[in-house]
Amino acid sequence: MKRIIILGSTGSIGTQTLDIVRQHPDKFKIIGLSTNSNIEKLREQVAEFKPEAICITDEEKAELFKTDVTLYKGEDELKKLATLDSDLLINSVVGSAGLIPTLEAIKKGTMIGLANKETLVLAGEIVMREAKKHNVTIIPIDSEHSALFQSLKSGGKTEIRNIYLTMGKGKIAEMSDEQLRNVTMNDIFSRPAWNMGNKITIDSATCMNKAFEVIEARWLFAVAPEQIKVIVHPEYICHSLVEFCDGSMITELGTPDMRRYTQYALFYPQRAMATVSSFTDLYGKTLRFEKPAFEKFLCLSLGHMALEMGGIMPAVLHGADHVAVKAFMENKIGFMDIPKIIAQAMSETKNILNPDIHQIVEAEKTAQKTATEVLTS
Ligand SMILES: NC(=O)c1ccc[n+]([C@@H]2O[C@H](COP(=O)([O-])OP(=O)(O)OC[C@H]3O[C@@H](n4cnc5c(N)ncnc54)[C@H](OP(=O)(O)O)[C@@H]3O)[C@@H](O)[C@H]2O)c1
Repeated sequence: MKRIIILGSTGSIGTQTLDIVRQHPDKFKIIGLSTNSNIEKLREQVAEFKPEAICITDEEKAELFKTDVTLYKGEDELKKLATLDSDLLINSVVGSAGLIPTLEAIKKGTMIGLANKETLVLAGEIVMREAKKHNVTIIPIDSEHSALFQSLKSGGKTEIRNIYLTMGKGKIAEMSDEQLRNVTMNDIFSRPAWNMGNKITIDSATCMNKAFEVIEARWLFAVAPEQIKVIVHPEYICHSLVEFCDGSMITELGTPDMRRYTQYALFYPQRAMATVSSFTDLYGKTLRFEKPAFEKFLCLSLGHMALEMGGIMPAVLHGADHVAVKAFMENKIGFMDIPKIIAQAMSETKNILNPDIHQIVEAEKTAQKTATEVLTS
């Protein structure tokens, strides 16, 4: 029986992970669950899965929650939940709050199923160094990275020529500059191929999500930034591919469904039967690959820039994006203002090379303040 902790169990990835756990009561035991503020959903999950402990990161909500289960309160206590005795930590929290719990669980030697890409965007070099030191496997849950993780098993590290991260092509990609300036929340939320949390949905529309994924891939697979290419693939069937030095291109194909990747992480290193995808779903489909419109999606270029600059810049990119996306959701800025605010925050920040984890956490917070000042200036 695998003992599992799920951080962010009330979110899109968290609930999909529990869907799979529910189907295999003989294989998994839930040890810990967490939410930020959705205490109603957490209450249902506690009743069904009977964890040993839970964490509510919104402290006011945590005070309202009456339970017999061990309750950790606040963002700082999420690491206590993450470091309980378990075989696998699924980190499906959104945002920088995921970083320290991942790092602490790695230090304890716990295997990680990582949906929280922010962990690697902010501190990929440190996290992967710690994972190596503690002999911990990080199994990506992002579809592209899971596809790459699986495809990379076909060859050696030195045999990789390039890795290609695929991205979809929604109606935003077809819009004129004028239309882009007037993109609404409605335009964005009618687009995705699958349901995701609000933050990642907007990040997908600006392509910041893809920029984060490039940084995530850099550290996860230890490839040079110039070996990571982004390609548009409108059909969402090929979920990224690896090109080896002999020209072979290996990929993972299937209809879009995140449960395939959460299941892969839950059962790793085994595979288990699933009903979520079948080859017949692909009959009659075409596969197209195109170059992305870098000039339209400035966030992609900002991501590459942050990766090249290194140091605290990826954390600054993330902190500024956090503020800009929130302002867009609150109708304070337009869609095309998002990259402008991030670029400004980056240009106002002095980089620190080889930062330690505290400097990274601090840099992310400071970038939020800088972006807020840019917004209000
Ligand atoms: N959804 C996808 O298809 C998908 C695909 C690939 C990668 N990812 C990545 O997976 C992660 C989760 O995405 P999601 O779409 O599942 O997000 P989501 O639906 O917004 O869920 C996020 C989870 O994190 C909790 N949370 C929010 N703020 C928090 C904080 N400050 N501290 C601790 N917990 C907090 C949420 O609690 P509440 O319920 O109270 O808000 C919820 O349980 C992100 O890093 C995303 O980029 C998602």
